[in-house]
Amino acid sequence: MAKITAGIATSHVPAIGAAFDQGRDQDEYWKPVFDGYEWAKEWIKDNTPDVVILCYNDHASAMMLDIVPTFALGFAEEFEPADEGWGRRDVPMVYNNTDLAGHIAEQLVIDNFDITIMNQMDVDHGLTVPLSLMFGRVSEWPCKVIPLAVNVTQFPTPSGERCWQLGAAIRDAVACFPEDLNVQIWGTGGMSHQLQGPRAGLINPDFDNEFLDKLIDGTDDLRKITRLDYLRESGSEGIELIMWLIMRAALGEKVEELHRFYHVPASNTAVGHVVLKPLD
Ligand code: DHB
Ligand code: FE
Repeated sequence: MAKITAGIATSHVPAIGAAFDQGRDQDEYWKPVFDGYEWAKEWIKDNTPDVVILCYNDHASAMMLDIVPTFALGFAEEFEPADEGWGRRDVPMVYNNTDLAGHIAEQLVIDNFDITIMNQMDVDHGLTVPLSLMFGRVSEWPCKVIPLAVNVTQFPTPSGERCWQLGAAIRDAVACFPEDLNVQIWGTGGMSHQLQGPRAGLINPDFDNEFLDKLIDGTDDLRKITRLDYLRESGSEGIELIMWLIMRAALGEKVEELHRFYHVPASNTAVGHVVLKPLD
C-alpha cells in the first residue's frame, strides 16, 4: 500500500529561487538561508520519495483572478515551470503520478471535498523553489510531484481548519491506494510576511516560533487560528501557513521533528523549514 512517510514544510520565497539560479547561494546574505537546508538535502538523499504531494499556492501565474479554485489538484501528466515575468526558471519539468492523483481526487470527492481538477497548469515559485531547496541543481527531479494548489491570494481563502480536514482526507486517500509507494507531503509558504500596504515588511518571530512548536503537539491550537488572526499576527501573506496544516494533518496524530530551521530575513519573509516523521 502507499504510505506517507514524511512531511516537509518550507517557505517558498521567489528571491531564494533567483539567488539559487544565479549561483548567489554562498553570498553573505543568502548563505545562512541555504545552510539551513543542508541537513534536509542530505536526509532526502536516503529518503527520496516516489511521489511528493506538494501543497503550494499559485501567485497569479497559472490562475489569474478570473478563476480562483479553493483547492486544485494537478491532474496533467506534466507541469511546466511558469514564466513569472522574467522568464521560465531553468529547472526541470515536473512530472505527475496520475494514477495516485486520480485516486486522491476520487477519494476526496467521496469524502465530500469538491476538489478542482487541473488538466493544464504551469507551476510557479511556490512549487519549484521548495524542489530546488530540497534537491539542489538536478537535470530531473528525483520523484513525481502531485501539485495541490490552495487559494491564499483572493478572499475568501479557506480556513486553517478546512485545510486540516483536507490533510486528514488526503491521509485516508493515500492509505487506501493499493500500490506500494513512498509518499511525502510538503506544505509550503509562510512564515510571517507582508508584501503590501503600510505594514509591508512585517515579521513576527514570536508567532512563527509558537507555530513551529505547536506543529509538533499543539495542533488543536493551530486549527483554531482564524484568517483574521493570520492577517493580524503574521501579515497579509502569513496566511500561506494554512498549507502547512494540510501537510501536518496528513501525518496523523503523533510526529517526530527530525529537523527545524528558522531564519530572518530572506527577502520580505521569515523562513521556516521543518522535516517531520509520522509516528503512527
Ligand atoms: C515573497 C515571499 C513569498 O511567499 C512570495 O510568494 C512572494 C514574495 C518575498 O518574501 O519577497
Ligand atoms: Fe508566496
